[in-house]
Amino acid sequence: MSDTKAEATGLETTAATSPTPVKRSFGSKVAAHFKKWWWLHLIIFVIVVLVVVLPVVYVGYPNIAKHDVNDSTLEITSMVISDPSPDSFQLNQTQVIGSDSSYHPKIYAFDAAVSLAGAAASFANVRVPSVKSEDGAQVEVNQLVDLGDVGAFGDYAKAVMLQEEVALNIYGKPDLKQGSLPKITVTYNKTVTMKGLNQLKGFDVTDFHILLKKENGRNMKGNVYIPNPSVMTINMGNLTLDLSVAGKPMGQSYLDNLVLKPGNNTVPMTSTVDQSAIIKMITSDDNPYKDGLVPFDIVGNSSFYNGKELPYFTKALASNNLTVHLNVTKALAEIGLTNI
Ligand SMILES: *[C@@H]1O[C@H](CO)[C@@H](O)[C@H](O)[C@H]1NC(C)=O
Ligand SMILES: *[C@@H]1O[C@H](CO)[C@@H](O)[C@H](O)[C@H]1NC(C)=O
Ligand SMILES: *[C@@H]1O[C@H](CO)[C@@H](O)[C@H](O)[C@H]1NC(C)=O
Ligand SMILES: *[C@@H]1O[C@H](CO)[C@@H](O)[C@H](O)[C@H]1NC(C)=O
Ligand SMILES: *[C@@H]1O[C@H](CO)[C@@H](O)[C@H](O)[C@H]1NC(C)=O
Ligand SMILES: *[C@@H]1O[C@H](CO)[C@@H](O)[C@H](O)[C@H]1NC(C)=O
Ligand SMILES: *[C@@H]1O[C@H](CO)[C@@H](O)[C@H](O)[C@H]1NC(C)=O
Ligand SMILES: *[C@@H]1O[C@H](CO)[C@@H](O)[C@H](O)[C@H]1NC(C)=O
Repeated sequence: MSDTKAEATGLETTAATSPTPVKRSFGSKVAAHFKKWWWLHLIIFVIVVLVVVLPVVYVGYPNIAKHDVNDSTLEITSMVISDPSPDSFQLNQTQVIGSDSSYHPKIYAFDAAVSLAGAAASFANVRVPSVKSEDGAQVEVNQLVDLGDVGAFGDYAKAVMLQEEVALNIYGKPDLKQGSLPKITVTYNKTVTMKGLNQLKGFDVTDFHILLKKENGRNMKGNVYIPNPSVMTINMGNLTLDLSVAGKPMGQSYLDNLVLKPGNNTVPMTSTVDQSAIIKMITSDDNPYKDGLVPFDIVGNSSFYNGKELPYFTKALASNNLTVHLNVTKALAEIGLTNI
């Protein structure tokens, strides 16, 4: 109704100013309509924005973002544990994000709780730096980690020592921003699988020699081969290992300043062995090791770094039993003891 009135008024004005009244074009009708009804269109526009755009921005986009964050993968390509103390260590870790999303939001720095997957407690909080989420993006974490729960880290170290694969859970609530869209908070709950030390399978004493004259109180020295299939470099400090043969203690071995690097490690090992007990054993009438090969059981006793015991490495070492067969006859022959 008011529409016709408006047009009528419009016509009157036209008629008054122009001697030859022209039929109004569609365009000018539309223009006039908007001139009068701009507010109604504004309200409709605002409603459309609220009804269509807002859910997209505040529901759709966060859902897509959450979905993409959930779908993304994380691969730890390097992990260096150095300068350990009973309740802290320096962590230098590189991880690579995998994502097939077409969105590349900025993920703001956040605190992540790191735990052995399935464990009741996390062992540390790590500050993850800000990163643009795109396939292949690298995240570097270089920080001194305070162990919130030393026992939980001991469990992790033990899992690393014994298992072929270890699942690490990283949990946090980072803020995320895509272009000019609002900042949202997402839950980052990612379980990363990485290779462990797999019980040091392949560990071997590559050579060993009896020292007639003790060096630093040690009477045997040689080299050990320690394979490390993981991407971890671990400064383990000074290790003491207990030696036994058929349950009988035979002394201790030492790996000083052991830094286990990814791949094959060949490091020196010294020992303090009970030589007379060993000689007595293999010269006895009931010596079971006629071919000279004696099976030594090796189990970790302790890990010390800068004079302090590292309970988590001690725990990990104590959990693993190794057996090496050493040709004692050969070692004795080297020092001139033959036909014993
Ligand atoms: C996250 O991804 C896992 C599989 O990767 C799936 O089982 C789970 O339902 C997803 N969660 C959400 C909230 O999308
Ligand atoms: C770890 O990163 C820090 C800071 O980038 C650096 O100073 C340190 O040398 C790194 N340590 C190792 C063992 O790579
Ligand atoms: C993370 O996800 C796993 C299952 O994928 C779930 O068991 C765990 O409770 C979640 N962590 C937190 C802190 O919600
Ligand atoms: C490590 O040693 C094994 C055999 O003991 C060998 O097959 C492998 O190629 C070596 N790896 C490297 C990186 O040298
Ligand atoms: C560790 O070695 C010490 C001697 O250095 C010994 O008294 C102790 O019993 C050993 N501990 C274990 C768990 O074998
Ligand atoms: C290991 O022991 C040696 C000799 O006692 C010492 O000089 C060295 O500092 C120790 N290493 C560490 C990492 O504590
Ligand atoms: C290691 O050996 C000890 C006895 O020497 C035994 O009690 C323990 O169960 C063994 N551990 C493993 C993982 O085989
Ligand atoms: C141990 O060493 C001796 C002397 O070198 C050698 O005769 C013997 O065959 C070796 N035993 C084994 C099982 O290799």
